[in-house]
Amino acid sequence: AQAASALQENEPMIRHEEYAADIDWNNLGFGLRQTDYMYKSKCTKNNTFEQGQLVNYGNLELSPAAGVLNYGQGLFEGTKAVRGEDGRLLLFRPDQNAIRMQIGAERMCMQSPSIEQFVDAVKQTALANKRWIPPPGKGSLYIRPLLIGTGPILGLSPAHEYTFLVYASPVGNYFKEGTAPLNLYVNNEFHRTTRGGAGGVKSITNYAPVLKPLLRAKEQGFSDVVYLDSVHKKYIEEVSSCNIFIVKGDVISTPSTVGTILEGITRKSIIDIARDLGYKVEERLVAVDELMEADEVFTTGTAVTVATVGSITYNGRRVAYRTGDGLVSQNLFKRLVGIQVGKVEDKYNWIVDI
Ligand code: COI
Repeated sequence: AQAASALQENEPMIRHEEYAADIDWNNLGFGLRQTDYMYKSKCTKNNTFEQGQLVNYGNLELSPAAGVLNYGQGLFEGTKAVRGEDGRLLLFRPDQNAIRMQIGAERMCMQSPSIEQFVDAVKQTALANKRWIPPPGKGSLYIRPLLIGTGPILGLSPAHEYTFLVYASPVGNYFKEGTAPLNLYVNNEFHRTTRGGAGGVKSITNYAPVLKPLLRAKEQGFSDVVYLDSVHKKYIEEVSSCNIFIVKGDVISTPSTVGTILEGITRKSIIDIARDLGYKVEERLVAVDELMEADEVFTTGTAVTVATVGSITYNGRRVAYRTGDGLVSQNLFKRLVGIQVGKVEDKYNWIVDI
């Protein structure tokens, strides 16, 4: 039995049925559904990552002294595989996730996989879990690459071993609101990050601290939280799980990434698409007062895609934005998703056909 399981672990039998059974593709939401395989590769300090392999999806064995557990040495990424109507399996800019992981690894004193290894790992994970890629139009396979310090360490210093993992889960809409407009709450008590911190990279340490304001906002019926800068407490930065844009007249503005804001891949794709569609796009400081006076507000992210905001509440005041037909956010959403699913010509070369 041991030999059989070892063989299975090293050479997993990829399941070839087109779709997983017993799953309601119409009601996916954004919860974890365990898939078949994950990718795993290790690296010891000053070394490169070994050739990774697909293994059965399952728990990890970790030293209690692992760098990630004690000092938060960890990064995560998010990317998606979709099934086009023509049956092609498509990834969206996975090289950009690879580059972002390398930049984050440098900030967190970690070794990181090469761009080629990262993209190959994402492809392998998507293909091995192909039966979990939802039917066209029903959602996507959310792919979660992780880089964690697995080497044991007691004094505060970088771990001596890193593990690069990629797992996946089929997902639908990120927010429970589905595609309905979001109601956001501006929190000026808690700040997501500060200048000189790690807010600009996808460190795992950026996410637990927003749980408290996020849960409080949800208890009050809001969808998510907008954070303000921690110095002036007047410029908008980002939302717990996504970047933010405002529209005023024919100008779209979004906070510039100054080390406190995540360099979203959807964010920068939307900026390119918007400019090509003829909108003026500004990356600059955006005051919370401008947010309250905007015509339209929307958020972007891999998990979120492009989400229209219906209202913002700040300092006890609630403003509602225009929603319905003809929104800038919907125009951008359609163009982005069209490219992602292979329906709109990809003049940018963003799509990777696997
Ligand atoms: C993503 O959009 O991929 C993210 O990483 C956000 C996460 C909080 C779900």
